[in-house]
Amino acid sequence: MISFRHPARFDKAATLILVDKEQAKNRNFPVLPKALKDSVAGVLDADQFPADNGQLFPVINGKQIVLLAGVGKKNDLSTTALRSTVRNALLSSWLKKAGDVEIVVHDPKDDVIKAAIEAALIGTYAWEKYKTPGKNDKAAAKKHIFLAAAPKREYAEAATVCDGVNLARDLINDNADTVTSTYFEKTVRALIKGKKNISLEILNRKEMEKYGLGLHLAVNQGSKKEPKLIIVRYKGAAKDGDYTAIIGKGMTYDTGGLNLKPTGHIETMRQDMSGAAAAVGTLKNAIALNIKKNIIFACVMAENAIDALSYKPGDVIRGYSGKTVEIGNTDAEGRLVLADAFSYIIKNYKPARLIDIATLTGACVVALGHDYTGLVASDDKLARKLTEAAEVTDDRVWRLPIYPELKDSVKSQIADIRNTGFPKGAGGTITAAEFLRQFTEGTPWAHLDIAGTAFVDNKQRLYFGHGATGASVRLLTRYLTHN
Ligand code: BES
Ligand code: MG
Ligand code: ZN
Repeated sequence: MISFRHPARFDKAATLILVDKEQAKNRNFPVLPKALKDSVAGVLDADQFPADNGQLFPVINGKQIVLLAGVGKKNDLSTTALRSTVRNALLSSWLKKAGDVEIVVHDPKDDVIKAAIEAALIGTYAWEKYKTPGKNDKAAAKKHIFLAAAPKREYAEAATVCDGVNLARDLINDNADTVTSTYFEKTVRALIKGKKNISLEILNRKEMEKYGLGLHLAVNQGSKKEPKLIIVRYKGAAKDGDYTAIIGKGMTYDTGGLNLKPTGHIETMRQDMSGAAAAVGTLKNAIALNIKKNIIFACVMAENAIDALSYKPGDVIRGYSGKTVEIGNTDAEGRLVLADAFSYIIKNYKPARLIDIATLTGACVVALGHDYTGLVASDDKLARKLTEAAEVTDDRVWRLPIYPELKDSVKSQIADIRNTGFPKGAGGTITAAEFLRQFTEGTPWAHLDIAGTAFVDNKQRLYFGHGATGASVRLLTRYLTHN
């Protein structure tokens, strides 16, 4: 939770003060209470605190803990570095257990305030549902942050967006057998309950059989769980404006199917619904921010299980569009469910543009690593706008190409198209995108491959700890609010 008050009051048991190098040199501080001013001056006199970015220095002021955090030279400081510094300070042993923390920033600019908000709400997120608190428990206290800044709508909105990000993270981090397609349905129903401008369509196995979503059904064939295409129609535009479709891959678990994933690759596959989770997080934000746009949010839910009934490599399956697909590999399942969802939504909802989000290819992790989401788009304007939103939010994307000759890479000898690219191992992200493109019917489209960015395994990345990051929720929310 976060509150805004100006000026700083120094009335909490814990205070975090950001200090840049100039300030440290010139002793140019916000109005510190007298006793505190003397303690800080003592630290500076002793030349112990040059205020390099990331440097932490605790000062005890009576019963108060005051943590000085250096941010280096103001003009060299990126908002990314700032988020990391504030995050590390809040999670440091000095502040970790503090409930109420006042944050005093070195420079009360909007960018700085917003970075501090995200550091507090996104940076300190930790997935601890299944950790039994022990007697030496170091679990971070639920914090109430008091930011020394005059309240502004922009700040309240920035905090709201973080809730959407963290909802996506909770969905991703929990067990695959907890966060099932039914759980998604319940989550979505709870979010939209009582909202007059929102309607819902859900296709279950029965409807999929009736309408012929053969690709989606094939992927889920080895699972006891219900496949679901959850479609939310959000009417936010005053007049009848066009619709933007946000479609997320929701593989609640991806074993790879009969092309079973090996040890070392399977353990994190409960995250394979991160695209659908991002759609739900963005839906939450759209409602909370009352976004004035018409939007379709879709969660494409299935489980790629291994079983005697699983779909088979080498088989040919017909999807909702009528096209047949040769199954080159049962682990390339995401593009199959998405293809049916694209066809169904384009035919029945006629969106003006389509954005899909998916943990689609390991190749994207190889190409871009963990800090940039892969962007592939058939529409330059859409790609540009998403890139702009990514730059503002630090929810980063990097565009990869798609071009006519790629058609050859997904040709099949026995069907209309194949779900694996050729040559094997070459450009896996863009051949997967080319497969998807062939189901877009010319609708302007952008694809976000979050395979590398959705989940951090056993290390820290930027200002995220272990687990889900909520990748693309901030980006999509920004795109929807500013276009
Ligand atoms: N869900 C995976 C992609 C993935 C890999 C996400 C690593 C997150 C981390 C996807 O369904 C998959 O298995 N893709 C295959 C495609 C291949 C068989 C053509 C892959 O990338 O290996
Ligand atoms: Mg797979
Ligand atoms: Zn997958």
